[in-house]
Amino acid sequence: MILRGLALSTQWWLVPKGVRVREQSGIDPVYNELEPKRRCEMTSLNSLIEPFAQTMGGPIRALRAVMAERGWIDEEAIVEVAEIFNLSRAEVRGIVSFYSDFRTSPPPARTLKLCRAEACQARGARAVCQALESETGQRIGEAHEGAELEIEAVHCLGLCAHGPVAWEGDHFFVGLRASDAKDLASGALSGLAWAAATSLDDASPEWLEGQTRLIFERAEMNDPLDLDAYLSDGGFSTLARDGNELLLEIEASGLRGRGGAGFPAAIKWRTVASQATDTKYVVCNADEGDSGTFADRLIMERAPYLLLEGMALAAKAVGARQGFIYLRSEYPKAALVLEEALVRLERSGLLKDQLQVELFIGAGAYICGEETSLLESLEGRRGLIRAKPPLPAISGLKGQPTLVHNVVTLSAVPWIVRYGGERYRALGVGASTGTMPFQLSGNVKKGGIVEVPFGMTVRTLVETFGGGTQSGRPIGAIQVGGPLGAYLLPEQFDTPLTYEAMSSIGAGIGHGGIVVFDDQVDLIEQARYAFAFCELESCGKCTPCRLGATRGKELIEDIQREGPSQEKIRLLDDLCEVMTHASLCQLGGMTPIPVRSALGPMIDAVRQEDPS
Ligand SMILES: Cc1cc2nc3c(=O)[nH]c(=O)nc-3n(C[C@H](O)[C@H](O)[C@H](O)COP(=O)(O)O)c2cc1C
Ligand code: SF4
Ligand code: FES
Repeated sequence: MILRGLALSTQWWLVPKGVRVREQSGIDPVYNELEPKRRCEMTSLNSLIEPFAQTMGGPIRALRAVMAERGWIDEEAIVEVAEIFNLSRAEVRGIVSFYSDFRTSPPPARTLKLCRAEACQARGARAVCQALESETGQRIGEAHEGAELEIEAVHCLGLCAHGPVAWEGDHFFVGLRASDAKDLASGALSGLAWAAATSLDDASPEWLEGQTRLIFERAEMNDPLDLDAYLSDGGFSTLARDGNELLLEIEASGLRGRGGAGFPAAIKWRTVASQATDTKYVVCNADEGDSGTFADRLIMERAPYLLLEGMALAAKAVGARQGFIYLRSEYPKAALVLEEALVRLERSGLLKDQLQVELFIGAGAYICGEETSLLESLEGRRGLIRAKPPLPAISGLKGQPTLVHNVVTLSAVPWIVRYGGERYRALGVGASTGTMPFQLSGNVKKGGIVEVPFGMTVRTLVETFGGGTQSGRPIGAIQVGGPLGAYLLPEQFDTPLTYEAMSSIGAGIGHGGIVVFDDQVDLIEQARYAFAFCELESCGKCTPCRLGATRGKELIEDIQREGPSQEKIRLLDDLCEVMTHASLCQLGGMTPIPVRSALGPMIDAVRQEDPS
């Protein structure tokens, strides 16, 4: 069901604490209609940038403020940021060029952001793109000087169960079709379906049947921002417990990180707790860049206090007093809700002297979901990967011990502490304990959050909840675990969703995204896309990923043009080996997983033809 809802103000969450917030309703309409450049003359650059001088990640916050005020970043702004933050101009230009939200030319009248990631692809995004390109005569993603409309490619807006999706201004348009291209191009958008993001989780009894909602139970409250209701439902009631007791509960639960790596949470907690220093941080990773995932978004929009309670409990256990939420800029609604929840929590005094939490908005970079890249970005720099060791738990934010966890991981903590780690461990299978909010999307009749204990097979989950493909055709492939996850073929659909079973077939759980494709899927094109995505999002620090992704994409394009051969397959295999073993982080290291799994049938066929 698509509902109309809140329009989003995309400006006020940029304002640092202590600076007067300009209410949307209070904006002088005359001021609002002025040309961006003229508006900027009225607000001096210095007064825009200076308030961020002492804040965490100041340069990025300042550049976001410039973008919000004038729509682009010119040389004058670069000089000013360099001066205020004592950086070289080259360093500031480096930051600007790293993040896709920053632009160095005046914006067109309209910017339409079209999702081109897997879940939207599975629902017909390529046809929408082609129709838009022929309607506008533009290639998506290429700048066209003087054009009224610019169409940007984006890779997941967290509305994957309702794709294809586009974003313009304050609205997210869902369920697009090629026939919508004319309206999208002309700006006649009022006839298109748009979504208040929050409305897109189903909590009907039919949908919930067969689910075990521990985390998402809290996402069903009437008013997510009602702190009194949250408290009277037992929220924050375990905060008085001793830090070591909290840690023991997490240890007993067997909780593993839900951000992708599945690392045992208790080991991280013990490591941070055992560091002998007064300054420690808890950082919530809310970058949720994986296509086909939206659990973090829904938790932040529907249960912000749950996340904040999880952060407070984690902070108490490890001895941290400051926390940050690193949130992707593609989630403006979550930013609004979280900012308001933080204000109400501060007013209540509940976390006084315990934990101070700040919200930081990213600037558009998939790689900033990787924890060391995230920390670089949070410190205001380009999101280049840091070599590990040292681990963030020992030397993280500003060189201090830092507990980095995903939104879902932290949001599981209040339930574990309240009901006991043993009870949590009793759910799931073996070392895959508890529940996972799987996110079902792509070519299914019905998608959404499916929170179940680990152990259900991929087929049961997809068939029971998804109700078959949207196209009515047989399922052809299922990608599990985001853009770095494997494409499962029908003979693998009976694999249980546990870390161990998935690993035994060369796949993973990742952040729990499950994207369904019908039998029309072009797996060679999906493999090409995996390399193209890595090429686009590579931080550029290591050669296997920076160059490997481009060479891999070219190789597959060659196969698409001229067909496969033994030589090409061998070359591809070698390239995948190098990327797997020599990349500095898992963007380069795991890109071969979707590539190899998608190309499996083609590789087998070539080898059978010529086994030499
Ligand atoms: C390329 C890449 C992208 C990642 N993106 C995210 C992300 O968007 N959100 C997230 O929580 N973890 C992401 N991770 C995993 C983080 O590096 C880290 O393992 C995680 O935040 C730790 O939290 P957890 O223990 O709760 O899983 C990513 C890792 C890689 C290699
Ligand atoms: S693998 Fe890619 S993203 Fe990771 S450090 Fe190397 S270049 Fe950067
Ligand atoms: S919104 Fe398109 S893949 Fe998520």
